[in-house]
Amino acid sequence: MATPLLAKIGATTLFLQEWVNDPRQIGAIAPSSKNLAAAMARWLPPEPNSYVLELGPGTGVVTQALLERGHSPQRIVAIEKSPKMADHLRERFPDTHIVTGDALDLVELLKLQINQSNNLAVVFSSLPMMNFEPEAAARLAKIIHSVLRPKGRLVQYSYHIGTRQPKPPAHFRFVDSEWVLLNLPPARVSVYEKQERSPEPPK
Ligand SMILES: C[S@@+](CC[C@H](N)C(=O)[O-])C[C@H]1O[C@@H](n2cnc3c(N)ncnc32)[C@H](O)[C@@H]1O
Repeated sequence: MATPLLAKIGATTLFLQEWVNDPRQIGAIAPSSKNLAAAMARWLPPEPNSYVLELGPGTGVVTQALLERGHSPQRIVAIEKSPKMADHLRERFPDTHIVTGDALDLVELLKLQINQSNNLAVVFSSLPMMNFEPEAAARLAKIIHSVLRPKGRLVQYSYHIGTRQPKPPAHFRFVDSEWVLLNLPPARVSVYEKQERSPEPPK
């Protein structure tokens, strides 16, 4: 069993290798700091039975923070596009549902993990949204909206510089935002709540 230091070096090496392979997909220059992961994890739902979904978990820093805050590993589903990262996560978190795949396919991927009666309370996203085409980003927000339970939350971080709050995705309302300076680079955690879509106007 690797010591925590060796495990951290191994995870950072994997992160950098994957960054060299595909910098746009990785979208950051280092794994998230513990401070950033803790700022995300504080939005865990209070009910232990609810499911949470992680998108782009990378090396698992946020996953670890969710577990440290006491969420059941069986109630965490994580979708990671990089097969090497996903293998690393499966080894590190054997009781958590790690799915190798694209977040844009999450409806199909989730069918295998969470059935309709389960409640998905929060989506934690580490995805590099700045590198998504606008059409793909809008499609993803719509898909996340469709899988969240009523008033479910989307918690995500960005490296957006500036004091102006990023615009909430369609049919989400802004809840909270926090700067995390102790991260490379500094990041902003933003929290949005699902709003019901207004009915389509009659044609
Ligand atoms: C900024 S890194 C995540 C860093 C992570 N918090 C950590 O500490 O390691 C973004 C992650 O999103 C993954 N990713 C990018 N596009 C994706 C997609 N469409 N579906 C699923 N994962 C994706 C990347 O492979 C990468 O692991």
